[in-house]
Amino acid sequence: MCGIVGYIGKEEAAPILLEGLSKLEYRGYDSAGLAVFAPSGDIVIKKAVGKLENLYQKTENGSAVQGVCGIGHTRWATHGKPTEDNAHPHEGGRFVLVHNGIVENEEFLRNKYLSDVEFKSETDTEVIAWLLDKFTSSGEDPEMAIRHIMAEIQGSYALAILDKTNPDVIYAAKNKSPMLIGKGEGFNMIGSDSMAMIAHTNMFYEINDGEYVVVTKDGVEIYTEYGKKMEREPFKAELDLSDTEKGTYPHFMLKEIEEQPSVIRRIIQQYTDDDGEMFIDENIINDINESDKVYIIACGTSYHAGLVGKQFFEKMAKKPTDAYIASEFVHNMPLLTEKPFFIFISQSGETADSRSVMVKVKEMGYKTLTLTNVKGSTLSREATYTLLLYAGPEIAVASTKAYTAQLAVLAILASKVGKEYDINLKYELSVAANVIETICGERENYKYLAEKYLKDSRNAFYIGRGADYYVCLEAALKLKEISYIQAEGFAAGELKHGTIALIEKDTPVIAVITQENINLNTRSNIKEVRARGAKVLVISMRSLSLHRDKIVINDVHELLTPLVSVVPTQYIAYYAALSRGRDIDKPRNLAKSVTVE
Ligand code: G6P
Repeated sequence: MCGIVGYIGKEEAAPILLEGLSKLEYRGYDSAGLAVFAPSGDIVIKKAVGKLENLYQKTENGSAVQGVCGIGHTRWATHGKPTEDNAHPHEGGRFVLVHNGIVENEEFLRNKYLSDVEFKSETDTEVIAWLLDKFTSSGEDPEMAIRHIMAEIQGSYALAILDKTNPDVIYAAKNKSPMLIGKGEGFNMIGSDSMAMIAHTNMFYEINDGEYVVVTKDGVEIYTEYGKKMEREPFKAELDLSDTEKGTYPHFMLKEIEEQPSVIRRIIQQYTDDDGEMFIDENIINDINESDKVYIIACGTSYHAGLVGKQFFEKMAKKPTDAYIASEFVHNMPLLTEKPFFIFISQSGETADSRSVMVKVKEMGYKTLTLTNVKGSTLSREATYTLLLYAGPEIAVASTKAYTAQLAVLAILASKVGKEYDINLKYELSVAANVIETICGERENYKYLAEKYLKDSRNAFYIGRGADYYVCLEAALKLKEISYIQAEGFAAGELKHGTIALIEKDTPVIAVITQENINLNTRSNIKEVRARGAKVLVISMRSLSLHRDKIVINDVHELLTPLVSVVPTQYIAYYAALSRGRDIDKPRNLAKSVTVE
């Protein structure tokens, strides 16, 4: 979703802003823009609809825009279409700014303060710029005006603001939208994500909700919305530039699929103590033990991981568990048990739907745990506890390694809650990592199969039962996200109750079979669809495989099969999308981190 980068220092700002924006492309966007203080003292604004490439061209790779202080933005349209007028930065009298988030009371603010303003865009962001102008025109200094808008705005924002009368400062403010300040030597930066700044610094100041920042080339001053100055030390990010590059891979998605064995090994290492035992904070274990039900809240791929997590908790820990879609849960909360425990799963830790649930259940006084890939993310900061995924930055919009990382951490957690369950998880996860490595060695097979089964098909079905069904949901999501083939995951036994009507000659049906207890049942369902003309591709575990099965995976512990069976489906999605010439890492309409509800 929208990205922000700001730079103030001695170097030319525009190329730095463009490069920072390119690192944020993965979040999803549909237009981009930048604003730089020219040596003349004017602010030059350039915007372009579509790919960042267009902004590069418009600014001649940045060389056409001179100046050492500026802000840039990638926009994912919420208020108004992706047009140049609606692209950021926005100008309101004395101020030029970029904004992530949503001003919920913009209509009210327009009516109350800005009835005389002629707006150039349909955005809520322009309202903020004009409000700052209004408040400074009536005598407030810029910081007072920023505090004033912070008091007035309802909603979420990360803001980077230029004041036309002062080229030596960028103001920033934050509420419920991610933002960091990058600390440099002789320069400082603002970013919605460390990735935008990592080429220049790995030292960052965390900014809390309700704080604003005065950023100059030599200083960073953080204040609360009431004007109280905060003392804060920067932290060092465990990230380097190479994490954000594709290396020799044609796409981040392929790189991330193939990083999965090392991610699982890293997780094993991170969750193993000095005695070689896997460990999880005892407080988390005690709280889950004391609860009467675990509620897992998540969206998208993370929700699918939550479904597998339910199985882990129920089977390993005998703890009743359910997984819920956050955007549903928040408005239609089920009747809660007496002692619920909430687990939030979010790769980014920023997903607005999940956060809304977090806010609600915290108000109700319940304890929460966040499983996230991003240390210091909103959902991590707001939860009682955090468990990190250690997957490294996931850049491709379609999530792959974060999903397997979520499963691995959920398995470790469930095994620690369920002390009675006999499993050497450290060993079993290592086996899974090795099996994934073998799967990755067979990518040519998946390429061949994806082309054979999916190249020209308009739809596709994944079928399975139990844990396999959950993997089918994720497999189908992956396929539709990046190839745009209409794909659905179905409980294999449910097909005959309706969906089988969609099966016709050559409809691709991919069946996942990893569980002995359902092997024969799913095989019967395969016969039913084959009899109606479907082209069937079976993914099975070696011990259950038949000679016609096209993808056979080496055995792993039966609870851990989702970690490995999902991998061929990731490849299938990847190669199906590739054969259709799709923009694999940045699929249409999608954003990596969805910070609006
Ligand atoms: C977006 C992404 C999905 C992701 C979902 C949840 O929709 O496109 O890939 O699964 O958000 O994201 P989270 O960061 O909360 O796991």
